[in-house]
Amino acid sequence: MIAQRKDDHVRLAADQQREHSGHNQFDEVSFVHHALAGIDRPDVSLATTFAGISWPVPLYINAMTGGSENTGLINRDLAIAARETGVPIASGSMSAYFKDPSCAGTFSVLREENPDGFVMANINATASADNAQRAVGLLRADALQIHVNTVQETVMPEGDRSFASWAGQIEKIAAAVEVPVIVKEVGFGLSRETVATLKNLGVRVADLGGRGGTDFARIENGRRQLADYAYLHGWGQSTAACLLDAQGCLLPVLASGGVRNPLDVARALALGAAGVGASGGFLRTLLDGGVSALIAQLATWLDQLAALQTMLGARTPADLTRCDVLLHGDLRSFCADRGID
Ligand code: FNR
Repeated sequence: MIAQRKDDHVRLAADQQREHSGHNQFDEVSFVHHALAGIDRPDVSLATTFAGISWPVPLYINAMTGGSENTGLINRDLAIAARETGVPIASGSMSAYFKDPSCAGTFSVLREENPDGFVMANINATASADNAQRAVGLLRADALQIHVNTVQETVMPEGDRSFASWAGQIEKIAAAVEVPVIVKEVGFGLSRETVATLKNLGVRVADLGGRGGTDFARIENGRRQLADYAYLHGWGQSTAACLLDAQGCLLPVLASGGVRNPLDVARALALGAAGVGASGGFLRTLLDGGVSALIAQLATWLDQLAALQTMLGARTPADLTRCDVLLHGDLRSFCADRGID
């Protein structure tokens, strides 16, 4: 059943990318243009450091898949693209491996194809501390992602209905594993209150995982016989809103969810992200064009991000936070409602 679900997710997520209107709340963030702000390209670095983690680039392939034959092949290609471009990569949820260790290879391929890259394991918040350690061990992972996805579970026909233990379990896992723990949403966003709670639980990084791209309420609704949860489509806060909300939280944040192009990466970095991830868009490129198309896309994004930093006068990704940024539309109302200046 898990293998079938993993294949469904890939199919429905790729379809969603093909149908997506293209608009999201990153469009309500713009840079003030300063015509003489530019610097020299050789002076620009893409390297980023946060929570003791150093990445050569501030872009990563976020959690997707593993657990079935088909998704093992996808992970192989994702790992090759990560290796060829130096982009960090996360595994999909490894619960399938805990239930059936015979699918280990569909996850460990991420490390086998990418021996020197930055690889993140991924588990849910009900995993035992032992299983968290097994996941990290299988991938020789550099960090561990724990996903929190109450909306997805609620709409998923076979989903979890008990969430009260999650915070306590996250705390136990964070205390048990040696690598940094990153807690991530899957496209509904982390509020600043949640980020503050995560810090108290010993979590090192929050991946805000906001609305605007892959919508797991829609995906899971598409897997229900009656598709009767349509009113939850579009639930949550956008990634841009989450970034503004989390400003002032004393936890490094990553941004993902609805990142469409290098300008969205620059916008997210300017709003305080230490790194920016994407999933559905990269999956679509891989399925439609193969691994060479994904390598080309990642290389183009990195090249254009460096070009944008050059134009905006940002020697490092963190320097983008010093750029003048304007907020428009609903994003401004969100800030007013949440008391953000
Ligand atoms: C995901 N995502 C995800 N996240 C997670 O933590 N564990 C998982 O197993 C999965 N599985 C998964 C499968 C597929 C096919 C997709 C497209 C995505 C969620 C993902 O990491 C990310 O948070 C969301 O997809 C939002 O980012 P995008 O797709 O808008 O860039």
